[in-house]
This record gives sequence, C-alpha cells and structure tokens, in this order.
Amino acid sequence: MKRTVIAGIGKYVPENEVENVDLMQYMDTTDEWIQERTGILKRRFATKHLETTSTLGARAAEKAIEAAGISQDEIDFIIFATLSPDYYFPGCGVLLQRELGITHTEIGALDIRNQCSGFVYGLSIADQFIKTGMYKNILLVGAEMHSMGLDFSTRGRNVTVIFGDGAGAVVLQPNEENNNRGIITTHLHSDGTHAEELAMINPGSHGGYHLGKEIFGFPSENVPGEVFITQKMVDDGLLYPNMNGQLVFKTAVVKFPEVIMEALDSAGLKASDIAMLIPHQANLRISSFVQRKLGLSDDQVYNNIQKYGNTTAASIPIALCEAVEEGKVKQGDLVCLAAFGSGFTWGSALLRW
Ligand code: ACO
Repeated sequence: MKRTVIAGIGKYVPENEVENVDLMQYMDTTDEWIQERTGILKRRFATKHLETTSTLGARAAEKAIEAAGISQDEIDFIIFATLSPDYYFPGCGVLLQRELGITHTEIGALDIRNQCSGFVYGLSIADQFIKTGMYKNILLVGAEMHSMGLDFSTRGRNVTVIFGDGAGAVVLQPNEENNNRGIITTHLHSDGTHAEELAMINPGSHGGYHLGKEIFGFPSENVPGEVFITQKMVDDGLLYPNMNGQLVFKTAVVKFPEVIMEALDSAGLKASDIAMLIPHQANLRISSFVQRKLGLSDDQVYNNIQKYGNTTAASIPIALCEAVEEGKVKQGDLVCLAAFGSGFTWGSALLRW
C-alpha cells in the first residue's frame, strides 16, 4: 500500500509579539515565573477584528499548498483542527474553504475537536483516506487564536501565560515515488475520566449536569433554553478555560513516552532511531522530561515553545515546519510526532520525511 506523504508544509504566526513582561500590565505575574515553569519567553497574538482562527489557518494553508506545487482547486478534502474556532458552529473547515476561495469545488470539510492532539488525530484520519484511495490532496490545518478567549486578569494567570496564537498546515498525498517516504504508523488514545481538568466547559449543554448547578447560576425550574449561558458565568468569569496544571503535568509525562514507544515498537524501531521528535509544545518542562525518559539528545528533540507559547493544535505543524526550514529535518529522516492534551487525548505518528 502506498504511504501518505507530507507533500507541502506551511506555517503562519501573527506579527504581534507579546513578551512575558508585557503580560504584567494585565495580571500579577513575572517573567521569571513564566520562564521557570513553562520555558516560554514570548508568544504571538493575532490582530483583533482582522484575524480569526480560520484566517490564520488560511495563511498557513496557502504556504503548504504552494510548497506542494499544486493549485488550491486540486485540494479534495479539508481537515481543520482547533479548540478556538471562529464560531460555535459551523466549524472552521468551511470558513477556511471560503477564505481560500475554493467554495466552488464543493469538497468536504471536517472539523476536529481534539485540542492539543488534534493535528495527530487529523494526520491519522487523512492517512486512512489517502491509503484507501478516496482522496489525493488533503489539506490538514491546525490553528488557534487563544488570545480572544483567555482570562487576562490575575484569576486566569496559570492558564493565560501559557498560550499563543498561530497556525500550521500540510498537504497530504499518496507517495507515487519509488521510496519509503511517508507516514509509517499512527496511534490514537483517550481517557475521559478527567475531562473537566483541562477544559472550557461553558457555554455548553451540560446545564450543570455532573458539575453542580449552583456553581453556574442555572435557573432552578426546568426552563427550556436557559441552560447555555447564565449571567453568573459572565459575572464570575466562568467562560474561560481551566486547567489542573499538576494533573496535566503528571499524566503528560507518562503518556507522551508511552505513546512514542508504542509507535516505535509497532514499527520495530528504537528511540535512538528517531532523527527528530516533534512533541506538542505544551510546556518545555514536559518536553525535557520526555526527552530524558527516552534518552534522546538535544539534537533529537525540537522545541520552539520559547518563541510561540503553546499553540495547541497548531504547535506540531508550526514546529515541524520550522524544523524543516532550519534544515533540522532532512529527507529520509525518521520523524516522530507526539501529543497529549485536553480530554485527555493523546497520540503519536512516525514518518519517514
Ligand atoms: N505567575 C505567577 N504566579 C502564578 C502564575 C503566574 N502566571 N500562575 C500561577 N501562579 C501561582 C499560583 O497562584 C500559586 O500561588 P500560591 O502558592 O500562592 O497559591 C503558585 O504559583 C503555584 O501554583 P501551581 O498552580 O501549584 O503551580 P505549579 O507549580 O503547578 O505550576 C504549571 C503551574 C506551570 C501550570 C504546572 O502545573 C505545569 O507545568 N503543568 C503542566 C500543564 C501545562 O503545561 N499545560 C499546558 C497546556 S495543556 C497541554 O498542552 C497539554
């Protein structure tokens, strides 16, 4: 069976750089705290009213399409991964299609809501479509505009300092060459036990179910249509993401190595065979822990969270694109992508670049 190859890759990060000290005007935090706990020095924030998640995605997609040497009209399927969509619905896939000016092609567009592991999930889905011969040019995009939905007061500082905006995209095709380039294996997992520990649960249809109605200010009588957004949610800042940082950290440092080893074992390979590990840029301390656990050298792990913060579904394609641009990933290299995040969901992919 033909392997799926990344025929083109592109990234886009907004121009506006926000350093740690810039955040101090909104919240009680310090450059030292952020650097020591997360490794982050700065991040990018998109321009309000001009940019959205889907426009960031479109800018990255244009570069990926150009790099693949195809025309936009040749894209035959779109997969869009994000946790910060332009709208609650419809998803960003159709908005990206419109932004690229290819609505006339009437291709399918699929939205993925797997947060930090969205790109790896998307890659695995695209791989199945390509392998079965259903599609020949899939556009997979990971994009986030976190800056629009974070709590910039001191109340939200443990979450807000971590995240940044950006987008990455790839064009996936069947490998028509006589070589072994392409996706070797993908592995996807989830465990919903701790779904609310890294989540933005409001607004939602839960109506307090499982979560305690009194917390969110739902009306006591059963009034249809009044269980989505309450005044209390607005007043008490309950419309922001929340994170149990220590649980995320403890689980991530177990699941990352586990799912990387699962991929290597399934392909009969060892950690030392990896030319470059591109972990989801969650937190530099998590990446360093994973690196040590797998016995990888600094040259075998790519990190750029220092510059961009955690861009969730965009972090892997941005990092992979930058590693390729810097010549750190070369043709024939064994590349491992791995992600862990909200859900919890996690996954890995091994590919020959
Ligand atoms: N600036 C200054 N102080 C802060 C900040 C901040 N931005 N955020 C929290 N603090 C304070 C807290 O209020 C607390 O103060 P207190 O002791 O007076 O109560 C103190 O720092 C310690 O807070 P903790 O939340 O216990 O801090 P912890 O040492 O756990 O570090 C962190 C928090 C960095 C989030 C850590 O738990 C971590 O690295 N977790 C991994 C989670 C992660 O990286 N998620 C990434 C996104 S999810 C993903 O991509 C998988």
